[in-house]
Amino acid sequence: MSSKPIVVVGSINIDLVVKSERLPVPGETILGGEFRSHPGGKGANQAGAAARLGHPVFMIGRVGRDLFGQELLGFLGRAGVDTSFVAPSDTTTGTAIITVTPGGQNSIIVASGANSEVSPEDLDLARGLIRSASLVLAQLEIPMRTVENLAEICAEEQVPLVLDPAPAQVLAPELLRTITWITPNEVEARQLQSFAGAASSPTPKESAEGMLALGARNVVLKLGECGAFLATAAGLRTAVPAFPVKAVDTTGAGDAFNGAFAVALARGAEPLEAARFASAVAAISVTRHGALPSMPAEPEVDAFLQNRSHMEIA
Ligand code: RIB
Repeated sequence: MSSKPIVVVGSINIDLVVKSERLPVPGETILGGEFRSHPGGKGANQAGAAARLGHPVFMIGRVGRDLFGQELLGFLGRAGVDTSFVAPSDTTTGTAIITVTPGGQNSIIVASGANSEVSPEDLDLARGLIRSASLVLAQLEIPMRTVENLAEICAEEQVPLVLDPAPAQVLAPELLRTITWITPNEVEARQLQSFAGAASSPTPKESAEGMLALGARNVVLKLGECGAFLATAAGLRTAVPAFPVKAVDTTGAGDAFNGAFAVALARGAEPLEAARFASAVAAISVTRHGALPSMPAEPEVDAFLQNRSHMEIA
């Protein structure tokens, strides 16, 4: 069990969310439903998920010197995330335009703003912090050169790096080989394989094997309401069922999974146990609106798991 901090390097966004029966086609205007704004960003969501579970968490990122930036720093702080390595930026805070359909499915466009200024220099300033971490989490809403530099630092410091390849982009083979865990969803896994010229893989197992064939060391394929599939360098190949719940908003569910997966690994759990715990945290998150505000605290997760202890999830 490690109380060494988890460090998250990534995006911090304000999410502008509209409920809608469907997405408009090009040239069309449609009337949506209820509007809400929430704290979000894949980096902030993963940091918040881990901190709400009681683990020490530091965030490295950027926000604008605007009201959204202040609001997001306040929310992260109240969730228990140390934001002393979040630097101010002269551009606007990252913003995500999100539509959520009645079944809870989301579509997202991100205006990166300050996130596009998260730089290798920011990592240099936090080198001692990264060295002290139990794990580092990253996503792809910050510049690729920063993610690549982070992977080099983590390798040099021998700190495991969990990369959420979202939104999917071409990954250098060297980066793929350096990451300890890669955690795509089905769409991202398909995109990553097609960028690399590999055939698309119909089943989760084949898709995870496809990621290993590209050079990844350990894969968690996130499958939403179908759970997850684990494939590790040590030879583990196993499905992790989801906990059935009534979803109202799936935004940030993958981030809930990653934050919780990291906490469980940092506490010494085996990958399968960590993925089951993460699956429970993600399930709770989709029963609530918003991304960052939907992350559960540890006692809620304990109660959820206790209520479902009769479920055979092996
Ligand atoms: O993963 C969900 C997140 O993606 C949202 O919070 C949004 O900000 C985008 O980063």
